[in-house]
Amino acid sequence: MNNIKDYEDLNKKKVLLRLDLNVPLKNGVIADQTRINKILPIIEFLLNKNSQIIIISHVGRPKGKLNKDLSLKPICENLEKKINKKIKMISGDIFKLKKEDFFKDPDNQIVLLENIRFYEEEEKNDISFAKHLAGLADIFVNDAFSCSHRAHTSVSKITEFLPSFAGLQLETEINALKKVTSEIKKPITCIIGGSKISTKIGIIKNLIPKFDYIIIVGGMANNILSFKGHKIGKSIKEKNCETMIDEIFKTLKNYPCKIIYPEDVAVGKKMDDISEVKELNNIKNDDFILDIGPRTINKIKNIIENSETVLWNGPAGYFENPNFANGSYEIAKTIVKKNKDNSIYSVVGGGDTIALLNQINAIDDFNFVSTAGGAFLEYLEGKELPGIKALK
Ligand code: 3PG
Repeated sequence: MNNIKDYEDLNKKKVLLRLDLNVPLKNGVIADQTRINKILPIIEFLLNKNSQIIIISHVGRPKGKLNKDLSLKPICENLEKKINKKIKMISGDIFKLKKEDFFKDPDNQIVLLENIRFYEEEEKNDISFAKHLAGLADIFVNDAFSCSHRAHTSVSKITEFLPSFAGLQLETEINALKKVTSEIKKPITCIIGGSKISTKIGIIKNLIPKFDYIIIVGGMANNILSFKGHKIGKSIKEKNCETMIDEIFKTLKNYPCKIIYPEDVAVGKKMDDISEVKELNNIKNDDFILDIGPRTINKIKNIIENSETVLWNGPAGYFENPNFANGSYEIAKTIVKKNKDNSIYSVVGGGDTIALLNQINAIDDFNFVSTAGGAFLEYLEGKELPGIKALK
């Protein structure tokens, strides 16, 4: 995979730059700017090289139709402020654009095309659309790792018609993920939570052969507890997962990896309750399991203490209620402490885990925090992402 930083002469080159500006918008206001902040280095880099930048991105899922609520305009304005430079937004029909229409004004160095998913051709990985887009530029750069699991025109097909390169952020993201998949420093531990075990089963199975510990917490741990014959009261539990869990324990027999799940828990009678610590044999029919208990926390802390690498996806409990955030906070604090003495490499991903770390201001205390949702999970499942394959 060639990286744009190794490209010799970018002066006046027209660069089609695929970014992921898919940020949460509420009435035109950006609720979280993390993704925008992460792409500033590639823009600065290309501006310094005197390239002419044509940014392509999507926001939301407009399904091939123009939808004013999903315009990139507010994002364009936000980006302009961040880079302190005018960005020309092009909202007209992309099919009518020609290469010579761009950058006529010598002061204009960046244009942004309106939401690429307003065109149904985008999600079809359409060849004519790809040829047309390619005709607007000299080279293509993908700096949208978080979109690279999509076989869409502006991520995948386009690479067949232009010299194509990985961007700075995409490379950083892949290098971090390699440290938890292929270039592992052991012992390595994965802490995996969230409510649906079915969405993480592929990851668990892919990691068992490589990992020393897989710690299952959060709502999905209830499935394991119930599978092991424990009562879980009214706690959330995904239906029809027994075969899946059986498969996990069968796979485990072939490897030294250990699966850890709660040995004690914190329960409440409702979500906004205070927390009561309980042993597994004491769960009542009207209990909700909402966090891991102190013995489980200690066990996890010990495992982290002895790990060289940790991957964390999904909180340990219902952290939205601070009474049930203890497990997640203790996990975070243990990793942060080890990070500070440089004795662990930590990768975190997933919207809820990031929200949790923001709550305690710990986001900068991890080696790598991935803002990619689906792409992060698919990479960890061992799948080849179409956007990455296309760059090879
Ligand atoms: C994401 O938010 O994960 C990416 O922007 C991809 O968006 P999508 O799931 O709508 O394809």
